[in-house]
Amino acid sequence: MSNENKKQNGKPHAKNAKGTALRLLGYIAKNYKFKFSIVCLCILITAATSVASSLFIKTVISDFIEPMLKSGSTDFLPLIRAIAWMAAIFAVGIVATYLYNLFMVYISQGILKDIRDEMFVKMQKFPIKYFDTNTYGDIMSRYTNDTDALELMLCQSIPQALSTIVSSIFVFVTMLTLSVYLTLIVIAFLCLSFFLTKFVGGKSRKYFIAQQLSIGKTTGYIEEMIKGQKVIKVFNHEDKNKEGFDKINEEFCHNATQANKYANIIMPIMVNLGHVQYAVLAVVGGLLTIFGSNNLCLTGFTLMNVGTIAAFMQLSKSFAGPIGQLSQQINSVIMALAGAERIFEMMDQEPEVDNGYVTLIKAKKDKKSGELVETDDNTGVWAWKHPHHDGTTTITQLKGDVRFFDVDFGYDKEKIVLHNISLYAKPGQKVAFVGATGAGKTTITNLINRFYDLADGKIRYDGININKIKKDDLRRSIGMILQDTNLFTGTIKENIRYGNLDATDEQIFEAARLANADDFIQRLPNGYDTMLESDGSNLSQGQRQLLSIARCAVANPPVMIMDEATSSIDTHTEKLVQEGMDALMKGRTVFVIAHRLSTVQNSNVIMVLEQGRIIEKGNHEDLIKQKGKYYQLYTGNLELE
Ligand SMILES: Nc1ncnc2c1ncn2[C@@H]1O[C@H](COP(=O)(O)OP(=O)(O)O)[C@@H](O)[C@H]1O
Ligand SMILES: [Mg+2]
Repeated sequence: MSNENKKQNGKPHAKNAKGTALRLLGYIAKNYKFKFSIVCLCILITAATSVASSLFIKTVISDFIEPMLKSGSTDFLPLIRAIAWMAAIFAVGIVATYLYNLFMVYISQGILKDIRDEMFVKMQKFPIKYFDTNTYGDIMSRYTNDTDALELMLCQSIPQALSTIVSSIFVFVTMLTLSVYLTLIVIAFLCLSFFLTKFVGGKSRKYFIAQQLSIGKTTGYIEEMIKGQKVIKVFNHEDKNKEGFDKINEEFCHNATQANKYANIIMPIMVNLGHVQYAVLAVVGGLLTIFGSNNLCLTGFTLMNVGTIAAFMQLSKSFAGPIGQLSQQINSVIMALAGAERIFEMMDQEPEVDNGYVTLIKAKKDKKSGELVETDDNTGVWAWKHPHHDGTTTITQLKGDVRFFDVDFGYDKEKIVLHNISLYAKPGQKVAFVGATGAGKTTITNLINRFYDLADGKIRYDGININKIKKDDLRRSIGMILQDTNLFTGTIKENIRYGNLDATDEQIFEAARLANADDFIQRLPNGYDTMLESDGSNLSQGQRQLLSIARCAVANPPVMIMDEATSSIDTHTEKLVQEGMDALMKGRTVFVIAHRLSTVQNSNVIMVLEQGRIIEKGNHEDLIKQKGKYYQLYTGNLELE
């Protein structure tokens, strides 16, 4: 657990707040220039009106109230007129504030949408390895918590920070023109609060990253527990799980507490600092008025008097105020940048590279030459279009001939799990893999699909090195039926159509009949329009498998991989599923992995695997004659486990 933490904190990205912030700004610059210009303009207007209103106090005191007090005049009209002007300026300020907040909402929601889109599109291109090494909870929390944090920052913190910066500059310049001495005092307080914020904020940041990580971990754990409810109950694992959860939850609590503890100290410090500053200004201002009012060089460009002090104190408030808020927002910025870093880190994952240039095309026989040519018609004939370096292109019919030449492979470079695998499967042949769990059967089939890249050796498909084939096209030509069925929310018909989006209803029914699925579908209340919920939980495992066979049948691939497809099916349905699969296998090259040897007996060749090596190969009779591992397995002297 702490390992993961270390990993996260040790990465440079966790410290790259500046780069992350710049990258976020890049999103604004890309699509929201106009809206953002309006935001900037409105912020300028807001700052100007705020300074004007502070200065107005001086005008009211020095130009109206003091003269009126001296002269004893009762003519309030000029004062009322001035106040009316002020009200107008205030109104402009309010409208401008409303506008920039409104536009920021549009901008930030737009950016979040862009980011979510980008994450999703990029995620679909990640290699399988990414999903092997990242938990569901961690990936999910990037979509939810991290974007939430980002939303808070974009929607609130950025506009507020901008307005703080702009109005601070305005206020600062105005303060300087009023009194240099007093301004120096304000700067001294500012420096103090700056260092305090930086110190405390820095401490928080580390824990905010840890907190986000904890959220991911917690979600992942809960998800696992929800999925595994049955197993948990059967094994009475509730207490053990609670222990595991307590540990994660405690860590979460610790990180969140630390993060918020530091962040929450900032506010009281700032408020009290503000009070002290206010008092100091009043005292020094008073002294300056009494003793140094005529020395303009020292006090600024304006004569020090009660009006100036009142205006200055108001200004200092609108200087310290937003800066105090800024430190408040640091809380959310820290969190958002930590989140954004995690989002960007996910986006920056290397996508699956595809240098393939051989594509799958529809083909037909040219009547004159008898050779295959490309066509747009659905001829049912598929071919590989192979452009060569010399500018020529060859078209080879898709047959489903797969050959391995001395293939080595490891999920990690250091740990090779397949050694020297050589095999061939001619079109229409059935190749079976048997061997203990972990022998490498599934791994071999993952290589045909190029879910992973080989460490050494070569795989040829219809004579073409599979590295040259475009991954999409390669995968389209290979059907897969696995032990776990993955169905999606939608109707049965839609789920079967997943195999081939162009399939007509008639083709779907036909595929279902071929797969032996038609019978049970017909008996469902809504037939083919029955909605499937959460991975088809309203069906039995066998029925789900029949659907995935139908889905494969509709795709009509020349090569099929069946990995323990009947392993988790009750014996009653198994016969049905087996028949469906047999029907589907006809005329295709099939790689089949099965626990029960009876299902692979009729294979053209059976490969016996042990620890990543093929130790025996041949058909059933050959292997029985050899009296080796297969023979032992077959006669029951050795159990597959
Ligand atoms: N995604 C993976 N990442 C790392 N190692 C894996 C992965 N999948 C399988 N392995 C390892 O590769 C070996 C072969 O596994 P696998 O091909 O799944 O075996 P089989 O299908 O024969 O039961 C095992 O030692 C297993 O631990
Ligand atoms: Mg397996």
